[in-house]
Amino acid sequence: MTILKVKELKHQYPDGTSALKGVNIDVFQGEFIAILGANGSGKTTLLKHLNGLLQPESGSIFLDNRELSKYKPSEVFKKIGMVFQDPNDQLIVPTVEEDIAFGPTNLHLSQKEIARRVEKALDLVQMREFAKKAIHTLSYGQSKRICIAGILAMEPDVLLLDEPTSGLDPSGVKTVMKILRDLNKKQGITIILATNSVDHVPVFMDRVLIMDKGKVFQAGTPEQVFTDSKTLAEVKLELPQIAQLMEILRDKDKLPINSLPLTIGHARQELVKLVNAGSEVFISPECSTH
Ligand SMILES: Nc1ncnc2c1ncn2[C@@H]1O[C@H](COP(=O)(O)OP(=O)(O)O)[C@@H](O)[C@H]1O
Ligand SMILES: [Mg+2]
Repeated sequence: MTILKVKELKHQYPDGTSALKGVNIDVFQGEFIAILGANGSGKTTLLKHLNGLLQPESGSIFLDNRELSKYKPSEVFKKIGMVFQDPNDQLIVPTVEEDIAFGPTNLHLSQKEIARRVEKALDLVQMREFAKKAIHTLSYGQSKRICIAGILAMEPDVLLLDEPTSGLDPSGVKTVMKILRDLNKKQGITIILATNSVDHVPVFMDRVLIMDKGKVFQAGTPEQVFTDSKTLAEVKLELPQIAQLMEILRDKDKLPINSLPLTIGHARQELVKLVNAGSEVFISPECSTH
């Protein structure tokens, strides 16, 4: 079922910059989509349209088959939550607990329901013991997780995240990606995540949309879009590192690799297969002497 539909979306900023030049997307319920693109390709501008923070110059956006502009802003914020790139744009009240309660409080829910949501959101981002902490004492990675919790407390159907792993250390990246995968798989939340780091895309996401200069350059499964480094270089992107290695082994060293592995797991399988096939060739003359 299509939850969000974007048709011929165009956007021009007041200074005349054409940031979106006719974007078309269908997002299906329960998907985990990556919006990939170099800096300035239009990812943030697109996300901001999807929860009504920016208005289209032309084109339209449908949420559950109804035009987004027909919803009240409060209805949109309830259904679609956006986690901004910079936590400082999002965290506004002094403590973790109060910050997460901010959205639900504005929904005029009962104190009991607000407390339940805050607790659940903290559990989902694995930050329960931080409830009473002051926001300014959190590490960058922790504040990112609190931003996510603040949006989860609104219990949205769709979660938009603008480069949620930028600026995090490797373990922080893994934690956030695993939290997002659980939210998608266990809670059924549709996730659209803008990023310019390719390595995690094939591991976590169902579908990729590559943006370039305000347009969708390519869309498909990771296997469909990560086919060769030349095409990606056209839009200032690279293959995931492991795929770069496998591409070199295939093209320069002429190893018989059919479809390009995109993850360490797949590359490992392929290499073990090749080594085993190679050792068979190697040992076969010996075997024939028996
Ligand atoms: N507030 C703004 N005013 C004018 N131009 C902007 C503004 N925000 C973004 N842009 C421009 O719009 C284009 C798309 O930007 P953005 O959506 O932020 O891309 P991305 O998130 O992929 O880096 C860029 O050329 C950027 O310079
Ligand atoms: Mg951006």
